[in-house]
Amino acid sequence: MCGIVGYTGTQDAAPILLDGLKKLEYRGYDSAGIAVMDHNIISVNKVKGRIVSLSEKTSDGASVPGTTGIGHTRWATHGAPTEENAHPHLSNDGRFAIVHNGIIENYMALREELLGDGYVFQSETDTEVIVHLLEMYYRGNVRDALIRTANRLQGSYALGVICSEEPGSIYAVREKSPLILGLGIDENFFASDVTALVNHTRNVIYLEDGEFAELTCDAIRVFDVTGREIIKTPSRILWDVQAAEKGGYEHFMLKEIMEQPAAVKATIAPRIREGEVVFDELKDGPAVISGVRKIIITACGSAYYAGCAGKYALEKLTRIPVEVVLASELRYSDPLIDKDTLVIVISQSGETADTIAAMRECSERGARTLAVVNVVGSTVANIADYTVYTWAGPEIAVATTKGYTTQVTVLYMLSVYFGRALGLIGEDQEKEMTDTLQQLPRLIQQSIDLNPAIPSLAKKYHDSKALFFIGRNTDYAVALEGALKMKEISYLHAEAYAAGELKHGTIALIEEHQPVIALCCNPSIMEKTLSNIVEVKSRGAEVLALTFRNNQKILSVADDLLFIPDVESLFSAVTEIVPLQLLAYHVAKENGCDIDKPKNLAKSVTVE
Ligand code: F6R
Repeated sequence: MCGIVGYTGTQDAAPILLDGLKKLEYRGYDSAGIAVMDHNIISVNKVKGRIVSLSEKTSDGASVPGTTGIGHTRWATHGAPTEENAHPHLSNDGRFAIVHNGIIENYMALREELLGDGYVFQSETDTEVIVHLLEMYYRGNVRDALIRTANRLQGSYALGVICSEEPGSIYAVREKSPLILGLGIDENFFASDVTALVNHTRNVIYLEDGEFAELTCDAIRVFDVTGREIIKTPSRILWDVQAAEKGGYEHFMLKEIMEQPAAVKATIAPRIREGEVVFDELKDGPAVISGVRKIIITACGSAYYAGCAGKYALEKLTRIPVEVVLASELRYSDPLIDKDTLVIVISQSGETADTIAAMRECSERGARTLAVVNVVGSTVANIADYTVYTWAGPEIAVATTKGYTTQVTVLYMLSVYFGRALGLIGEDQEKEMTDTLQQLPRLIQQSIDLNPAIPSLAKKYHDSKALFFIGRNTDYAVALEGALKMKEISYLHAEAYAAGELKHGTIALIEEHQPVIALCCNPSIMEKTLSNIVEVKSRGAEVLALTFRNNQKILSVADDLLFIPDVESLFSAVTEIVPLQLLAYHVAKENGCDIDKPKNLAKSVTVE
């Protein structure tokens, strides 16, 4: 999810590159860099951290002369977020500088080959192989070298390239990572998304996969993998600058809800091979679970609720007792933890103060810690004994959505992995479960598509005094997160109750027209939840049920419906939460709330 930008023209390149990188910072912000060409000299400036540090380092670009350049803002995948791993990367002969967004899947083999040929690597990135290949294939023609290099690459890449032999030219290549060319007057640009271009031009060319572009200040030429020129028709951007930053969505939260199929896929895909769950990142492999007598999951907020949802699969498949404990409670509770306890710590940001403190407390008591974390190089990731990344990409909206679903997904995968390691799941069963896990991205998309009525349901429910969410078992765990989403962005009073608990007190709150959102996605206890629905209905409640499309029993009693596709209930939380996220979003929108930055909240809670 890195951002790349390129400029060639008559103005100084560096300030323009820095401005573009600031617009792309939502894509990743652990390190950044620019390479600017002044006649035949390429100068590279890189920093660990934000674009603002790069601006400071280069005096807002003033200290870097030259009218041609490329820039990059990184969200680390291969290699820690350090200055060495920051882009641009230089070839050994200093002739080429490149920036890259994407992942080169065959980089290990290429790296071995290039090392054998005497190339020296400066970073741990997958990207660096590209710049050495360019040097290797360069025979006086950059375009040819690019084509030969691209032919060797597997994976996804948007590349920006400059070559000291061709001052005034920038090159761009696209394969499965976005790249857009911007057409100016006496200047031309490329960028990962239009956000970085709209301040300069609204005339753009969308590169397609397998296309290469050569840009000078007065021309853009696009060619295919054979070197044949392609005539492209420019498009005009009609979005305003802010909308472009959100990829056309009104809010980052909506964008991130819609990104969930892709985020869950990115989290699952590298970890299922031939019907097996594999965690290459667990240095002790399946031995992580050997001798473990108790699992504690600790986290805050939605990450804690992800733990609540994952507990069911973990306990069922490992038969090890699992406790889910709020990090802010655990740290002061004198917890019963020892070396036979595995502590799973969940955090999107990896910087939540309570979570870090709870984790340290557990380590001091001898437990092993396994972090499920999204931000590469964050504190939680760094201090854990084992780290498993959720590949959700940067999450900008304060209310987490894809962070939560990818966390639950990792817990599902760990459950299968540990169950197999403990000999409780056979090969065939694992195969069946991994097949289901691989279906989740598609099923999450269906959860979005099956619910076009949500905006009108939001109109009906947005001015309720309170909303109650009920469910049992995994449905209850999802109800907790659904209620939190509603509270934090719409400011409605929303509470989740275990459906079986209603008659022990809560049912006193039910009165005429009280909305109750009933989650009924677990066939084994459907009848029980159905009885609870009937109980609240007979006291006047208005029931909005979340269930399967063909669930006739629920369809006939509920007032309104939300749907999920058919899915194995052990793994259904990630499909169930999606309509509830969308409901919260639309209710908040009806109420005119600041959806991406709800009042009193911050994305990363680094204080106790
Ligand atoms: C709610 C939300 C928060 C976070 C919590 C933990 O939408 O985002 O409840 O889940 O602050 O944050 P991380 O996961 O960064 O540790």
